[in-house]
This record gives sequence, C-alpha cells and structure tokens, in this order.
Amino acid sequence: MNRIMILIGGVVLIGLFAGCNREPEEEKPLYSSTEPAPSAPVSTPRTHPVTRKTRNTYQFYCAQCHGIDGHGKGINAPHLTVPPRDHTKADYLETRTDEQLFTAISQGGLAVGRAPCMPSWQHTLDENTIHSLVSYIRELCQCKSL
Ligand code: HEC
Repeated sequence: MNRIMILIGGVVLIGLFAGCNREPEEEKPLYSSTEPAPSAPVSTPRTHPVTRKTRNTYQFYCAQCHGIDGHGKGINAPHLTVPPRDHTKADYLETRTDEQLFTAISQGGLAVGRAPCMPSWQHTLDENTIHSLVSYIRELCQCKSL
C-alpha cells in the first residue's frame, strides 16, 4: 500500500526532496487528476488576482503535499518529515508577509528558514503565477499579509 502511495504521490522534482522522504522514491509522473477546473476567474482587488490558472496550478504542483483544499493533507504528506503547511490556517499565515510567502514558493522553504521539503518553483512557474498563488493562499486562509 505504502509503495503504491509513493508511486502515485511520487513527486516530479524527486531529487530535490532527498532528505525529506522517509522511503526510497520511484520516478513516476504523479499528476493524473482529471478534476474539472473551478469555475470562472475570481476577481479580487489584489494586484495578482486568483484566476482559474492559479487554481489549476495549485492543484497540479502543490496539492500532492498541501492537499487539494490546502489543508496540508496531500497524498505525499505522510512521506515528508516536516508536515506541509496548512494553507487554511490564519493563525500562522497572518504572521507572514506576502513577500515571505512569495520567497518561500519561489526559492523554497530553506530561503525563509523553513524545511527544504518545500521545493523551489522559480524555474517552473513565472513570477505572476507565484504572486497569484500568494493571493490564493490568502484566500484559503482568509487572512492578510503581516
Ligand atoms: C513536496 C511537497 C511540497 C510541495 C509539492 C509543495 N510544498 Fe509548500 N511546503 C511543503 C512543506 C513540507 C512545507 C512546510 C515547511 C516548514 O514548515 O518548514 C511547505 C510550506 C509552504 C509554505 C509556507 C512557507 C512558510 O513561510 O512557512 C507555502 C507558502 C507553500 N508551502 C506554498 C506552496 C505552493 C504554492 C506550492 C506549489 C507551487 C507548494 N508549496 C508545493 C511541501 C511542499
């Protein structure tokens, strides 16, 4: 069972997570979700609004660890030594600035003094997408930047 979980949950950037995984990984594409995209772009007053693309990006790249609803219970979560952050929890996220969240996503957990199991996405996602992911996390936690 565990093995199957890893096959499904095995992450694309496997090399980056050495030291975070508890068991040997296998290189398999992980994303097979065929869930329909959430409806229409949601307009927010933020500079980088949350769009359908933002939500799809989160489901594609983040949900395997952070969970499809952002609660931190993604399929890969049990295999990480540090639990993925719960993006719906305001009490932590309101102690972080948007810049800190941006840096965490862009450069990875280590860049903000957090665990390296949180990968760096700057070579995968463009800046606008990362900004909109910050907006999306603010939407999930219903909280503001410090
Ligand atoms: C391989 C699993 C994994 C993936 C994939 C992943 N994360 Fe994370 N993420 C983590 C872990 C683990 C932490 C917690 C780090 C800590 O608390 O030390 C974290 C923490 C975070 C944080 C909080 C940083 C802080 O200040 O504590 C943000 C924001 C975040 N992730 C966003 C994202 C976004 C956006 C994506 C998708 C583009 C993503 N993560 C993909 C594992 C992952």
